[in-house]
Amino acid sequence: MTNAQKWMAAFLGLFLILLILGRVTKKDDGTEAMSMQMMQQSQQAAQETDGLSLMRQTGCVTCHGSNLQGTKMAPALAGLKEYWSRDKLINYLRNPSSFGSDERFVEYKSKFKNVVMPSYNNVDVKNLGKIADYLLTK
Ligand code: HEC
Repeated sequence: MTNAQKWMAAFLGLFLILLILGRVTKKDDGTEAMSMQMMQQSQQAAQETDGLSLMRQTGCVTCHGSNLQGTKMAPALAGLKEYWSRDKLINYLRNPSSFGSDERFVEYKSKFKNVVMPSYNNVDVKNLGKIADYLLTK
């Protein structure tokens, strides 16, 4: 091989590598849709940890359990969207004693006789909103 031929070969090789790299890194619509989905999922996860960590900070977990599974002192917090709208739930957290004529609450009253769900009207409503959003996903 002459020097010129070697250079030609080197260039061809480089060209091929760049071509392949271009193919590999190019996103088609499928992968873009997938990364969108992944972003949404991680956003949702962030919201959930946000709500739960707020509940940890506020002390809800002391009574309701570290994973809100319920304890001897308070009921599990799950499936709440069946009973609460977002607004109503926020109102409840701010003033629980004005709710509670439901059968469910009558049962709670006898089951958790010595414990009262505290009112959280001193907590920023925005944070109560985040907590409510989180609870309504469970
Ligand atoms: C001192 C213990 C205690 C703490 C702290 C506490 N709760 Fe409760 N919670 C209760 C009890 C007891 C009930 C049952 C209702 C009743 O007896 O009035 C209840 C009920 C609830 C309900 C209604 C459940 C249903 O089935 O609809 C929600 C929602 C709730 N708590 C959310 C929270 C959140 C959010 C926090 C923190 C911001 C919190 N609780 C902190 C004791 C507690």
